[in-house]
Amino acid sequence: MKNNNFEDVVFNRHTIKEFVKDYKIDREEMLQILEESTKAPSSVNLQPWRFVVVESEEAKDKLRPLIMFNIRQNDTSSAMILIFGDMKCYEKAEEIYNKAVEKGYMPEDVKKEAMDYFLPAYKNFSKAKMNDIVKIDSSLMAMQLMLVARAHGYDTNAIGGFEEDKLAKAFDLDPERYVPVMIIAIGKADYNYHESVRLDIKDITKFE
Ligand SMILES: Cc1cc2nc3c(=O)[nH]c(=O)nc-3n(C[C@H](O)[C@H](O)[C@H](O)COP(=O)(O)O)c2cc1C
Repeated sequence: MKNNNFEDVVFNRHTIKEFVKDYKIDREEMLQILEESTKAPSSVNLQPWRFVVVESEEAKDKLRPLIMFNIRQNDTSSAMILIFGDMKCYEKAEEIYNKAVEKGYMPEDVKKEAMDYFLPAYKNFSKAKMNDIVKIDSSLMAMQLMLVARAHGYDTNAIGGFEEDKLAKAFDLDPERYVPVMIIAIGKADYNYHESVRLDIKDITKFE
């Protein structure tokens, strides 16, 4: 049963670091969660996010030495979702834009105009710029993933503490192409969350 209570989904999201051990999310539901998460927006709709769902004991053993102080989440979560950004995401531009044309969402000439405009730019962006783009896009998706997880009755922990330079290789991905963005631990919460504070909004906002 889906939780469609917006306030509960959003405002009762809290970091959970310990989950009901051995609770598995079946692959069909996991794919549904990821599919719903990837409804997030992305720059020129290039959808640079790629996933490795670490759910088996063997894969979790492989991940354990790479996640620093986040062992509890690895060992109790239903899965650790590794989010990578594809530095060559533009290679799927044709596929994405063709699909939009086929579905009648975009006329062929608009597709051509858009692709002629952004593709050369994407191909020439510096590594640093591409790194920013894929991380911004994938982070928006990651936030959506945490909320979608709640709608499915699960909780999460966004994890940035891991061995950035080793993650792709450990999971047989080309480290030059796939940059690790974040890991999302997901599962059934096994304890009450800890409250967290926020800065006063008036101190961090200015109107002009
Ligand atoms: C990008 C990012 C990286 C984070 N990395 C870690 C981490 O490595 N380990 C951890 O336990 N929590 C991590 N957190 C969770 C934050 O500590 C947590 O979101 C914050 O304290 C606010 O609490 P809340 O999520 O309950 O609102 C991370 C959160 C974000 C957004």
